[in-house]
Amino acid sequence: MAGSEFDYFTMDDFDLKNKVVLVRVDINSPIDPKSGRILDDHRIRKHLRTIRDLEKSKVIILAHQSRPGKKDYTSLDSHAMRMTQILGKRVEYVDGLFDSHVRKRIRNMRAGDKILLENARFYAEETSLKGEKDHSKHENTHIVQRLAPMIDFYVNDAFAAAHRAQPTLVGFSNLVPNLAGKVMQTELDDMSKAFSPDISPKIAMLGGIKVDDSIDVAEHMLETGAMDKILTMGLVGQVFLLAQDKDIGEPSISFIDKEMNGTKELVEKAKKLLDRWGDQIKVPQDVAFKEDGKRKIISVEELPASGEIMDIGIKTIIDYSEDIEGAELIVVNGPAGAFEYEDFSIGTTELFRSIAHSEAYSIIGGGHSTAVIEKLDLSRSIDHISTGGGACINFLAGRDLPAIESLERSKRIFRRGPFHKS
Ligand code: 3PG
Repeated sequence: MAGSEFDYFTMDDFDLKNKVVLVRVDINSPIDPKSGRILDDHRIRKHLRTIRDLEKSKVIILAHQSRPGKKDYTSLDSHAMRMTQILGKRVEYVDGLFDSHVRKRIRNMRAGDKILLENARFYAEETSLKGEKDHSKHENTHIVQRLAPMIDFYVNDAFAAAHRAQPTLVGFSNLVPNLAGKVMQTELDDMSKAFSPDISPKIAMLGGIKVDDSIDVAEHMLETGAMDKILTMGLVGQVFLLAQDKDIGEPSISFIDKEMNGTKELVEKAKKLLDRWGDQIKVPQDVAFKEDGKRKIISVEELPASGEIMDIGIKTIIDYSEDIEGAELIVVNGPAGAFEYEDFSIGTTELFRSIAHSEAYSIIGGGHSTAVIEKLDLSRSIDHISTGGGACINFLAGRDLPAIESLERSKRIFRRGPFHKS
């Protein structure tokens, strides 16, 4: 067999011409809730490399957008439009996932056709098995049972969602050969460099709003020694300030409460981390918030802030920049503040500039961080820009990602199958 050297199959291992190929991508993108406009199409562009390589196949694209209850939890019709524009070839949006009209459309596909199915998370099954490790449960969902008999191959290109155990990400491994797409392969290759034992010190800068994921990953990173230091910022930094018993002020607390469905549990977890690894976790020394329409900075001793905290202050920027200068590996996930407002983009801009100028191997993850890097025109100075946020930091923390385990399982099952290129 002309098999790949990897533990998983790649698209080069098979002849995919005229075959029905289901491609799971992650085109979860920032969307303006009012206009429905896609604000950043970075992920969409990346996956087109995989889609272009499947020009002679019948391509069914499967994806999700946001989470139930969020403002940008939308249908995927605008994603299909954007794909069509960039690709210069039609990507047809089909309003459904496995309904009879969808199955009929799949049966009528010709080589070269590309269809994008509906937001997989519109179907409760996709999210209801959250964290379920038993892959047969995912396999037995209607989504998988209805689609699997219609396809020849399943390509997983959704590195950015690889840390999620959900039917469309892990349910197909026993049923058809699962192959890593081009984005998946590049991510795994480039990021594996971070595991070199010769690189030290390694720092992770965790910001943005996915505080639950970040705290979880920080714990794993410190527990396994994958990282030497964690620098907290964004909402993550604010939760750590709360864990240090600082009163950050009512506006910020209610914002976190709303975003994360409560703060208590997060603060307790953050406290445990500080108790155990206090000298390896850095927490902002000063913060910026809005007062009378202007940016105001106060040190953490002067808290509470009368307005919502939206950035880190200058002392923190200088302190974190020194860590950046001394690091050999820097992993960043999430911005330092509300960078979309000019007055509150300073922390993120300054830190990202320091990273771009540092000698360290730099990995940036998360849609928002990537958007900032592009806006600042710093992409060429970053070693790896990951399509993933949570997936990127979980991978670098040394965690087994369910979607990658699933690719590996599929190779073990189908390695002796009749499908390979000879
Ligand atoms: C991401 O944007 O990190 C992925 O699409 C996963 O999204 P989720 O955190 O909503 O599962």
